[in-house]
Amino acid sequence: MSWSGRQGVMVPAARAMSDPGATGRFGTYGGRYVPESLIPACHEIETAFREAWSDPEFHGRLDTLLTVYAGRPTPLTPAWRLSRELGITLFLKREDLAHTGSHKINNVIGQALLAHRMGKERLLAETGAGQHGVATATAAALLGLKATVFMGERDIERQELNVLRMNVLGAEVVPVTTGSRTLKDACNEAMRHWVSSVDDSYYCIGSVMGPHPYPWMVREFQRVIGEEARAQCAAELPVGVPDYVVACVGGGSNAAGTFAGFVDTTARLVGVEAEGGAAATFGRAGVLHGFRSLVLQDEDGQVTEAHSVAAGLDYPGIGPEHAQLRDGGRARYETVNDEEVVQALLRLARTEGILAALESSHAVAWVIRAAESGEIAPGSTVMLTLSGRGDKDIASIKELL
Ligand SMILES: Cc1ncc(COP(=O)(O)O)c(C=O)c1O
Repeated sequence: MSWSGRQGVMVPAARAMSDPGATGRFGTYGGRYVPESLIPACHEIETAFREAWSDPEFHGRLDTLLTVYAGRPTPLTPAWRLSRELGITLFLKREDLAHTGSHKINNVIGQALLAHRMGKERLLAETGAGQHGVATATAAALLGLKATVFMGERDIERQELNVLRMNVLGAEVVPVTTGSRTLKDACNEAMRHWVSSVDDSYYCIGSVMGPHPYPWMVREFQRVIGEEARAQCAAELPVGVPDYVVACVGGGSNAAGTFAGFVDTTARLVGVEAEGGAAATFGRAGVLHGFRSLVLQDEDGQVTEAHSVAAGLDYPGIGPEHAQLRDGGRARYETVNDEEVVQALLRLARTEGILAALESSHAVAWVIRAAESGEIAPGSTVMLTLSGRGDKDIASIKELL
């Protein structure tokens, strides 16, 4: 498929955003690279997910909780003043308005219901920005499960508000002091802990990463973002689909869920990474946290440290399906730097009265840059997933101002 192809003639990459089958491969990416002791656990989860996903009762329970508890559907808000300034029509898919303040709740409610159905007593999770940890603590409280959340020490410092929220919700937050003390190290610890507690604990992964079936399962739980947005765009736009669909990428779950709703349309799909954590842009194929994907690494193949002002994008890999979408040309990946992100956060706040998360502000920053440079043609329509709210970042923003 040609990126610059005439509107209406694009053909999605073969099997893109579909079931990756028993091997869990997205082209050459994905798979299951875990210690032998975790292979049965991955099989057990895959079997349970396949059964649940074909069970109308499970869907009924999930849909009910997403509606009456998580507050779905989230609105599609026109960014009136910013659109006028940029000469485009910009719509925001408001995941910041979902219960607990980000898209993470969609995935966590799904996985927590699955864990409950499997008879597990405890949810384990890793978290960077803390939003996945808060969502996990919330769903655990709702279903009467215990929750243990691993979080890098550096992220504990910069996401203090979310640590407090997790504690209030009854979760145990375990500080991780190894490595760069951020998301990658929290994943290492959560996985290590899972190996020793696999009988009673369910590892609730926060993004489209990890061993099969997680990248596929998490995308399916996040698909609701893209499907709602597609229907909302169909109702709002004369041509039904926007010219661009844009989302920020850490592991890539909000982007994968968003893209799933538009992959078979003419919309151009753009994932926006942090310049210092841009695995789709600067990574090479490698194995990390149980899956094969694009990973930031040195010439010896050692995983290198990522950096981002946004704790949730501070990760040296991306989900395997994004690597496939990139290779197939169906999605493209762009980077923005910390300074652009802070400026974008302020501009959205001051033109629209919306305080977005630093993670989501990456997507905003790229749209501003591309519209101002003319790369997004004047008059284009853009649908941007605003993955979360920025209250958690207020202390970091104060330091950056
Ligand atoms: C608000 C928000 N957006 C985006 C992300 C990045 O995750 P993903 O790429 O899986 O959507 C995070 C991760 O913590 C987040 O909290």
